[in-house]
This record gives sequence, structure tokens and C-alpha cells, in this order.
Amino acid sequence: MTDSFDLNQTDRLLTTTRAVRKRLDLTRPVPRDLIMDCIRVASQAPAGSNLQRWRWIVVDDPALKSGLADLYRRAYEPYIASQKVAVDRSGRTGAGAIMDSSDYLSSILHEVPAMVIPCSLGTPVGNQGQVAGFYGSVLPAVWSFMLAARSRGLGTAWTTLHLEYEAEARALLGIPDTVTQVALTPVAYYTGDTFKPGTRRAAEEITYFNGWKS
Ligand SMILES: Cc1cc2nc3c(=O)[nH]c(=O)nc-3n(C[C@H](O)[C@H](O)[C@H](O)COP(=O)(O)O)c2cc1C
Repeated sequence: MTDSFDLNQTDRLLTTTRAVRKRLDLTRPVPRDLIMDCIRVASQAPAGSNLQRWRWIVVDDPALKSGLADLYRRAYEPYIASQKVAVDRSGRTGAGAIMDSSDYLSSILHEVPAMVIPCSLGTPVGNQGQVAGFYGSVLPAVWSFMLAARSRGLGTAWTTLHLEYEAEARALLGIPDTVTQVALTPVAYYTGDTFKPGTRRAAEEITYFNGWKS
């Protein structure tokens, strides 16, 4: 077959694209062209009726990054405080590492070389199908962006916490109120060589054939 893929490579990309927080290289600038390449790749993602209502805001201005990081931290601090109480109460193990790395991201977010805020024209209103169509027409492109970044040596981390203050972020960036921000990701070269697959539930445990099984 001429159109075959090297599954080792594609599966490695798909299984090792992690939320990168502690390994973001804060010292190495990321060329805008490289981010544009990732957006070009991401633009091949599916979208309802191929309307391509996604828009990308790349933020590399220090004052704007600080403003966004402040909004993120305002949302993060109460969120993580309640998470820590819940984890202590439940005795859940393994949550400590994620919380450490989340704390770190929150503390250095203003220092990342770039932030990318994917947006969609419009707002998510209507029935479940319309809301699914709205987000389903932009979120696949966001993940494609992250995969394209990973394959170019760039780390990303999907975040949504700044959206608690989406109006403030909108004012900061001049985003019209007819546009919805859907995430914020830092973009930086990653340090270290590679990443491992993360901990996930077994496919057999989460897949039902021919109907829901409880
Ligand atoms: C919708 C969504 C929202 C998220 N919000 C945040 C966030 O605000 N801050 C953060 O540090 N990570 C956030 N994450 C990252 C998740 O914590 C991460 O994807 C998950 O722990 C799996 O990480 P791993 O792929 O490195 O194993 C978010 C992920 C998703 C998909």
C-alpha cells in the first residue's frame, strides 16, 4: 500500500502527547512560523458543514501573557484548594503529581513563550445536538494543533480555567462578544527527550458493543 503509515510513529505521537507543565522550556522563544505550521495542520480537522469557524489567537506579548496568567491564577487558586480538600478526604492516591505540576503551571504561566487561545465564531446555544456541533467543530482542531506541536518538539497543555474570567480575557484581547474562547494552551519547546503513554482505563472496560452495559 502506498498510503500506509508507520504505526509505531503515529501511535507514539497519539499516545505520548501529554499535558506538558513542568517540562515547558521558558527560556527558548518559539518562532511564530512554527505555530502557524501547527495551525495549518490543525485546519485539516473536521468541522460541521466544513464551516471552519475556528479562529486562533496567539499571544506572545509579555503584558498580555501576564494579564491572561493573572486571570488563570484567579480561577486556579480556589479550584485547586477545593481539589486538595477533596483528595485529602477521599484518600485518592496519585493525584499529588498532577496537582504539583498544575501548581507549577499556574505559577509560571506568564513566562511561557506563547499562549494559544482557540476560539469559534458564534456561541454554544440550542439543543444538545447544536451544542455538540458547536464544540465538535472546534475541539478536534485544538487537539490536532497539540499533536502537530508535539511532533515539532513543542509542548502544550489543554487548560480551560481562565474561561471563568472569559469576559476579562475578551476585553484584554479585543475579542468580539459574538466569539467563544474554548481553551488556552501554553506553547513552548519541551525539555527532556520524550514522553511516555499516560495512565488510562483499559479500552475493554469502557467499550460496550451493541448497547450500554452497566
Ligand atoms: C477540557 C479540559 C480542561 C482542562 N483544564 C486544565 C486546566 O485548566 N489546567 C491544567 O493544568 N490542566 C487542564 N487540563 C489537562 C488535564 O489535566 C490533562 O489532560 C489530564 O490530566 C491528562 O494528562 P496527561 O495526558 O498528561 O496524562 C484540561 C484538560 C481538558 C481536556
